[in-house]
Amino acid sequence: MMEGYEKAAADAEERLAAAADLDAVAAIERELLGRRSKFTEAKRRLSDLDPGERAAAGRRLNAAREQMEAAVAAARARLTASGRADRYAAERLDLTERLPQTAPLRRGHFHPVTQARDRLEDVFVGMGYTVAEGPEVESAWYNFEALNIPDWHPARGSFDTIFVNLGEPEEVMLRSHTSPVQIRIMENRKPPIYVVAPGRTFRADTADATHLPAFNQIEGLAVDRNITMGDLAGTIDEFVRALFGREVKSRLRPSYFPFTEPSAEFDISRPDGSWLELGGCGMVHPNVLSNCGIDPEEWQGFAFGFGIDRLAVMRHEIDDIREFVNNDVRFLSQF
Ligand code: DAH
Repeated sequence: MMEGYEKAAADAEERLAAAADLDAVAAIERELLGRRSKFTEAKRRLSDLDPGERAAAGRRLNAAREQMEAAVAAARARLTASGRADRYAAERLDLTERLPQTAPLRRGHFHPVTQARDRLEDVFVGMGYTVAEGPEVESAWYNFEALNIPDWHPARGSFDTIFVNLGEPEEVMLRSHTSPVQIRIMENRKPPIYVVAPGRTFRADTADATHLPAFNQIEGLAVDRNITMGDLAGTIDEFVRALFGREVKSRLRPSYFPFTEPSAEFDISRPDGSWLELGGCGMVHPNVLSNCGIDPEEWQGFAFGFGIDRLAVMRHEIDDIREFVNNDVRFLSQF
């Protein structure tokens, strides 16, 4: 004859199969195995039995307990798995979904400074130059020394260099101009050399309408036989016109840079007849050629450098250079 708890155990599987959620399973479990269950009551009565009957009764109790526990565990597993499946379905993200297109898709475009850089590269590649790059962290040798700026030279002070706390004091720095790339190129290549090197440059400047502490320059370098200041002036004129239009003129004004001799600054003409300063240039100083193992008796060169951000400011007549780094899409999307 079946005991009450054995009947409950036999029905357990069927009852639990109908349970709709984990709370219902817990309620049934309490009813089957909890303190007020028929099972617990039978277990308590075990001690009243004769020792002879006790073992057999214990085995029946155990078998029933195992049956009930297994049924509860199976119900839990079923509901947990289906609960997870339901949650996954509810939370599903369809990454392939395309919203119905109500307006034409807006495409992004390159930053105006990147556009200016690309355009400059195109113009110079069209004139037979190749494009090179150098590291943004430089040593004093490349940033100054090899460019004919020894450590006592006052020009070092004018660069507002940002030093890196590495090695000897003032030995490692964020490059303050792209001119060190000239040195790296001449060290590694034999003339004739026609190269431009655009890239990021850094100075301890407070950002204002015309300055950024991290900005972009492009360096130009030509080394060949019989190169003259006339070649330099012609090259600058050519790229200025290619970039700004045929009606724009350029001019050189005497200036001073330690790495060129003679040195000049170059300006471009504005529609109102005034001149705007763009950058520096000159004939590569014989010391600089020698520093790179190039014989200044045999080879001459010219070099130039200017700010790409500044150029973009002029081209688009932008009032404040900081707009380039504010990341305001309303501003950037105009270009
Ligand atoms: N490196 C200079 C600067 O940052 C610009 C410059 C002047 C570059 C004359 C040159 C040059 O190559 O010949 O102010």
